[in-house]
Amino acid sequence: MAKGKKQSKRASKNKVHDEQVIENTLVVVKEAADMESLAYAVRGADITEPIPLGVVPDLDIMPKTMRAWVIRRERHGEPMKSFQEEVMPVPDIGPNEVLVLVMAAGVNYNGIWAGRGEPISVLDVHKENYHIAGSDASGIVWKVGSNVKSWKPGDEVILHCNIESETHTTRTETPYDFISYDPMASRGQRIWGYETPDGSFAQFTKVQAQQVLPKPEHLTWEEAASYGLCYFTAYRMLITQAQLQPSEVVLVWGAAGGLGVFALQLCKMVGADAIAVVSSDEKAELCMELGAKGVINRKHFPNIMFKHGETEEEKAKRLEDMKRFGQAIWKILGERRNPNVVFEHVGEATFPTSVFVCSRFGRIVICAGTSGYDCVFDVRHLWMHQKRILGSHFANALECIRANELVRKGIIKPVLSHTYAYDEIPHVHQIMYENKHSGKMAVLVQASELGLKNTEEAKRAGKPLQARA
Ligand SMILES: NC(=O)c1ccc[n+]([C@@H]2O[C@H](COP(=O)([O-])OP(=O)(O)OC[C@H]3O[C@@H](n4cnc5c(N)ncnc54)[C@H](OP(=O)(O)O)[C@@H]3O)[C@@H](O)[C@H]2O)c1
Repeated sequence: MAKGKKQSKRASKNKVHDEQVIENTLVVVKEAADMESLAYAVRGADITEPIPLGVVPDLDIMPKTMRAWVIRRERHGEPMKSFQEEVMPVPDIGPNEVLVLVMAAGVNYNGIWAGRGEPISVLDVHKENYHIAGSDASGIVWKVGSNVKSWKPGDEVILHCNIESETHTTRTETPYDFISYDPMASRGQRIWGYETPDGSFAQFTKVQAQQVLPKPEHLTWEEAASYGLCYFTAYRMLITQAQLQPSEVVLVWGAAGGLGVFALQLCKMVGADAIAVVSSDEKAELCMELGAKGVINRKHFPNIMFKHGETEEEKAKRLEDMKRFGQAIWKILGERRNPNVVFEHVGEATFPTSVFVCSRFGRIVICAGTSGYDCVFDVRHLWMHQKRILGSHFANALECIRANELVRKGIIKPVLSHTYAYDEIPHVHQIMYENKHSGKMAVLVQASELGLKNTEEAKRAGKPLQARA
């Protein structure tokens, strides 16, 4: 299909979905109008009912309960089963924490892991009997803890998902809590909305003050909610861990996925050549738009994926495809050159190929094992050519601040493929689970429609609740 045609097909698909979202949000606005009759006798009084979706109330309105999509142990399974809506208490905050009104939330694979309860149940990690997933959000600061000086109610923000050890900032409790070192080194490090129970698929969420970053003003609420987790992870992987250099070559698996779209942009920014790997021509086109040097469709290498228990014949076919895959890289580069860096997150299925094609002294940087975590590979390829495997996990606050500045300056852009309504949170995770998406997806929570960029626009559009004086 011609490039123009494909683009317009993708654009029209987005439009249809966006119209659907707007229809859904219109219902929300009608609901909000009904709710305006709620009697708030005294300005600032506690309200028992959740506020309606799609509205931004006055800052002094503090409901006791909120709407949230909740995972519970007995519902572990695929997203359509595991996510169910409930009315929950609005979380209390501690002295170093901030309560945020969620305007939009970003969709990530960790919501799928949390729902499935595999390989572990996150409920066993945080020990609560509920789990509100969601590790990306844009929103409005609603309330701050007594120690918080850097943020105030009304600030428009995004949230990063690294929770630092509370003890780390005050004292070392064990030899494993490192004061002044990278907070990712601390044993108390957690991912908000995955290893903690109060994530962003709710009207309110609580975070540590250090998780709060300024919202880039030029972005809509949904764009601002979409990039944090994946982009900051890709930033640490390539910039901090792999120390990517100009003119290096980077092989990016899942290049049109959440991590991949940011890896491609970071490579371009640094002046490195990215070779994108995808599974469809439509995704290939997106990768070229994001600055890839070339794209490999992995479907052209049907035997390349490792699986445990493969026969000798299957193994031989896999090795053959791995070699052909390496040659496809050379063809794109126009020379017999192997990638200096392999950007890995698929894990088990692709890891043997990643080690095989990586250059002498190259780095394989890995943050996940979507296809499985039991990686098997020929270690001779590693030691003989002195390659390094680098584990990486999200990012620290400094990396998030630096990476967010690049978004604020317009150097790195969110790649938001679709925005969904709050009611579609299980559905959107199911789409991701079935690998039917590209780029990032977001959902509206208190933003009533697409395209709103700040509190004023959101209040105007969403018929905000007025507290009665
Ligand atoms: N540790 C961390 O801090 C961290 C942070 C972010 C994400 N993650 C993890 O990283 C993984 C990817 O996240 P994401 O947001 O990028 O997900 P995503 O949007 O679903 O993208 C992943 C991409 O990987 C590719 N893929 C999936 N299965 C594959 C297979 N068997 N072989 C080759 N490619 C395959 C798919 O691309 P094609 O089908 O086009 O090849 C897909 O687009 C998830 O497991 C997530 O939990 C970890």
